[in-house]
Amino acid sequence: MGRTTPLALLLAVTPLVHATHLSDSLLNRVYNVMNQVSVHSWENGTKAEAILEATYPSLSVFSPTDPVPLPSGLSSGQVGQIIDVAQTTMSNRPATNLSAHGGSRLLNDGAAGDPASLGITIMIASTATGNAQVNGVSYGDAVNTELNYILYDVPRTTAGAISHRADQAQLWSDSVYMVPPFLAYYGAVNNNQTLIQIAYQQCSLYRNALRQSNGLWYHIVDGTGTSDPNPWATGNAWAAAGMLRVWATIRWSDYASQMSSQMNDLQGWITEIFDAAQGYTSDGLLRNYITDSSSFEDTSGTALFAATGLRLSTLNITNNYVNTSLNMLSALSTHVNSTGYLTQVVNPNDFTKQGDHSPEGQSFVVMAYAAYKEWDALGRAGAPGGGGGDPLGQSSGARMRVVSVGMGLVLAFAGIIGWVTI
Ligand SMILES: *[C@@H]1O[C@H](CO)[C@@H](O)[C@H](O)[C@H]1NC(C)=O
Ligand SMILES: *[C@@H]1O[C@H](CO)[C@@H](O)[C@H](O)[C@H]1NC(C)=O
Ligand SMILES: *[C@@H]1O[C@H](CO)[C@@H](O)[C@H](O)[C@H]1NC(C)=O
Ligand SMILES: *[C@@H]1O[C@H](CO)[C@@H](O)[C@H](O)[C@H]1NC(C)=O
Ligand SMILES: *[C@@H]1O[C@H](CO)[C@@H](O)[C@H](O)[C@H]1NC(C)=O
Ligand SMILES: *[C@@H]1O[C@H](CO)[C@@H](O)[C@H](O)[C@H]1NC(C)=O
Repeated sequence: MGRTTPLALLLAVTPLVHATHLSDSLLNRVYNVMNQVSVHSWENGTKAEAILEATYPSLSVFSPTDPVPLPSGLSSGQVGQIIDVAQTTMSNRPATNLSAHGGSRLLNDGAAGDPASLGITIMIASTATGNAQVNGVSYGDAVNTELNYILYDVPRTTAGAISHRADQAQLWSDSVYMVPPFLAYYGAVNNNQTLIQIAYQQCSLYRNALRQSNGLWYHIVDGTGTSDPNPWATGNAWAAAGMLRVWATIRWSDYASQMSSQMNDLQGWITEIFDAAQGYTSDGLLRNYITDSSSFEDTSGTALFAATGLRLSTLNITNNYVNTSLNMLSALSTHVNSTGYLTQVVNPNDFTKQGDHSPEGQSFVVMAYAAYKEWDALGRAGAPGGGGGDPLGQSSGARMRVVSVGMGLVLAFAGIIGWVTI
């Protein structure tokens, strides 16, 4: 017990410089900015996933209760914000011959994988509207042609990995978030185990091609033109978070017991990334290129890591990453400005450079707080110090220091009590 008192005194005098917990009103602003600034297909798909996790959590695969299949009585009014994204997507859909192979895509895009990030959104809209049509095409037909495009028309590597690019076989870690979660969800909802297995295999093939010996993934390999053989923070987070969505989809499908080895693999591949990354945090943030000490600290990729670490806990997989994720979320929250923008972010259109805002970064903050709130509601498993107080700290610097001292005094008092008792 003799060691408790000095530790408590140390806590009492150490200010928690980066401890911040966004208020609900500031988080609302983050959400509104997310809605205003998301433009590209993957940004809209990521936004729709954030909307699902934050606003309609019981329909997300991260729900603690079975979200698959969608409730048969689901109405469009119950998922209005998802329908909005689905309608926008359908109105941007190129008019193509639905029964022709090739060219029948959800959206025209140089990236093969990015429009697939909207597949789940279209499936939910199909169910909630009784498979309504937009511009003469039903949601169901649109999603089926997108599925066939991904499975049969997109170039593949010789090993069979589905390219992230439409014109050549080139692998981007981003794709693991865009494509396999859609394939798995389609399989789970339609009781098609083959598609779930394909989702798993694609994760495996991407890992085989992108993983470095240190466990982190390269961003882009193969093909010509763009290349990025570096451990991009957001790319590693895309991969880990995408594989976790596949894991969770299998968990709620009819095939969970038959696919336990696949779930074990996915779990190992996700934690492998986390284990390799978490030692590199600086002030709670990951650098844009994780292992490069001259690279800037990026709040955006860090936010998706934080969301993933907390979901690993809420899905009962492991609490090993709770502390790191709380440190990350607390640190990046200090970079949300009063307008609701996440700052100090990588530019999503030029991944080597810092930018002044990031649509996907806005979505990642929404996801991280949705994960935090669920983790909190489920009892704060794995919280450092038993989960008392506010694990993310206080939003105002002045108040934060007072609380820090107060906590220190409480702990010092507990230490004395413990010492006296013994
Ligand atoms: C993404 O959504 C915005 C509206 O929020 C829309 O203006 C834009 O066209 C959409 N992008 C695509 C590729 O559909
Ligand atoms: C659509 O494509 C199918 C298959 O290639 C073809 O048989 C059909 O005639 C096309 N329909 C139209 C309206 O072009
Ligand atoms: C599962 O989906 C694949 C790809 O669309 C399809 O070829 C196959 O027939 C489906 N299997 C079942 C049992 O529906
Ligand atoms: C995690 O455990 C809780 C409590 O036992 C349970 O309600 C929940 O469904 C579990 N989640 C998953 C994904 O199995
Ligand atoms: C917040 O950041 C955004 C994006 O960088 C910027 O446009 C806005 O002016 C900032 N707001 C404040 C209050 O500084
Ligand atoms: C949690 O993280 C903080 C900040 O890095 C560290 O000081 C503390 O020892 C960690 N606690 C546990 C229980 O790992």
